[in-house]
Amino acid sequence: MAGPGIQPNQTANTVKTIEWTPEGIRLIDQRLLPLREEYLLCRTYHEVAEAIRSMAVRGAPAIGVTAAMGIALGVRQSQATDRDALKAEFRQITETLAATRPTAVNLFWAIRRMSELFDGLMKKKASIATVRTKLEQEAQRILEEDIAANKALGGHGASLIPNGKTVMTHCNAGALATAGYGTALGVIRSAIAGGKNVDVLSLETRPFLQGARLTAWELQKDGIPTTLISDSMAGHFLHSGRIGCVVVGADRIAANGDVANKIGTYSVAVLAKENGVPFYVAAPLSTLDLDIASGESIPIEQRAASEVTSIQGVRIAPEGIAVFNPAFDVTPHSYVSAIITERGVVRAPYLESLQKLKNQQ
Ligand code: MRU
Repeated sequence: MAGPGIQPNQTANTVKTIEWTPEGIRLIDQRLLPLREEYLLCRTYHEVAEAIRSMAVRGAPAIGVTAAMGIALGVRQSQATDRDALKAEFRQITETLAATRPTAVNLFWAIRRMSELFDGLMKKKASIATVRTKLEQEAQRILEEDIAANKALGGHGASLIPNGKTVMTHCNAGALATAGYGTALGVIRSAIAGGKNVDVLSLETRPFLQGARLTAWELQKDGIPTTLISDSMAGHFLHSGRIGCVVVGADRIAANGDVANKIGTYSVAVLAKENGVPFYVAAPLSTLDLDIASGESIPIEQRAASEVTSIQGVRIAPEGIAVFNPAFDVTPHSYVSAIITERGVVRAPYLESLQKLKNQQ
């Protein structure tokens, strides 16, 4: 039985990454894949924040959807009996969720969307019961819109995928990274659904191994022919002539088309350009941050050294070694052949094409 005002996610036709249940938010625990397929139930908004921080749920759109649900959950559980107390608690909930991961703009986009709704309801002096119901409905709408956006962008991007060639991808921009279907992997799914003969080369994506653990698992589960290679093999295969294009997702796209995505993306983009291979970025409009002029202003998350010094809990580097672990890099727009969104495909000059796209109704 669903909670008030919200129905369980019935729309995803791939893996169910995020689901609202009467007991809390149910997430497939991406830290355990592919060895164990287990689900994590977040019963409070604090548990939701921890799931995002620890990357039990990850991927820009999935983080946004989960945060929206975390807000709805926090408000549902609030003990506030008057609107002022609820306002204070709402601020605390959104601040806790906003402090989890800094780079994916979808997190802040979802928090802003939920906050605007909340503020409007407060202005109208809606009852606390109404506020709860409306926030739950909005979170569910965000989830459903994300799946629809992925399917739409998949359809637009499919025409860019060359038939009979290999598509290279980095990290996991699939159903696991979204509410369902995926962005980069959505484009690949759509190309295959449209009859193209495509196989995938998945880069392992050190240090967190999203490619080896998640993309390999997700595509194998769908029966999409996939071969795993280590990150250091990217240049070799991009030079080989068998790669038709690269398709990746994004965590934040600046007004000039600079793209923040998983660490290592920039290297792949440079190698793609050097070898004349098109480099495509697939992302919903919720990943655009047109308020920032260029990638230089995108905050890059720094993660724990242990992610680099250990693999799955096994230490591989000497104790005491200095470590850098930026989780993302920025690919300058000059390397991006096109950006694929739910409203269509745009190309350079991005300053104009992205703004035009955003202004379209
Ligand atoms: O650190 P992660 O795993 O959250 O990073 C994910 C990525 O960089 C993805 O490519 C991006 O979020 C797009 S997901 C559709």
